[in-house]
Amino acid sequence: MEMMQLVKLWALTLCLVVVLPLAQATDVSYCDKKTEYGVKVSGVEITPYPVARGQPATFSIAATTGEPITGGKLVIEVSYFGWHIHSETHDLCTETSCPVSEGDFVVSHSQVLPGFTPPGSYSLKMKMYNTSNKELTCIGFDFSIGFAASVSES
Ligand SMILES: *[C@@H]1O[C@H](CO)[C@@H](O)[C@H](O)[C@H]1NC(C)=O
Repeated sequence: MEMMQLVKLWALTLCLVVVLPLAQATDVSYCDKKTEYGVKVSGVEITPYPVARGQPATFSIAATTGEPITGGKLVIEVSYFGWHIHSETHDLCTETSCPVSEGDFVVSHSQVLPGFTPPGSYSLKMKMYNTSNKELTCIGFDFSIGFAASVSES
């Protein structure tokens, strides 16, 4: 890993650990357990936790790639108690610094969940593609949305 990347990764980790004590590490699973994905994901941290409605939530995904990634996209799908409610596509390079060299990298995705989002149990599925539209990884994890923001909102 290059020095700058190491510093960035370390700074991000420090930031998550020290500044954001409400961050939560979450269990991640691959969409297809039999597939050997080119990008391995070791964990996800969600800040704040539980996610508050109408406020940005940050999903920091720690990953490792076996080959350099020049660019690509992220497809994110959110489900509520198993119901697909939201999907969006992002340029991979807006969520991590491109090009990604072989080794560890972090994808940081921030998103504001709509104010009407009911509290409860959600799951998020994230697929990563490279510029040749080849699926590099597909992961899923659960998170919950609290009642917190509804107080200040209304
Ligand atoms: C995308 O990933 C596939 C599989 O790892 C690889 O063969 C291909 O060269 C990659 N494309 C680019 C543009 O990196």
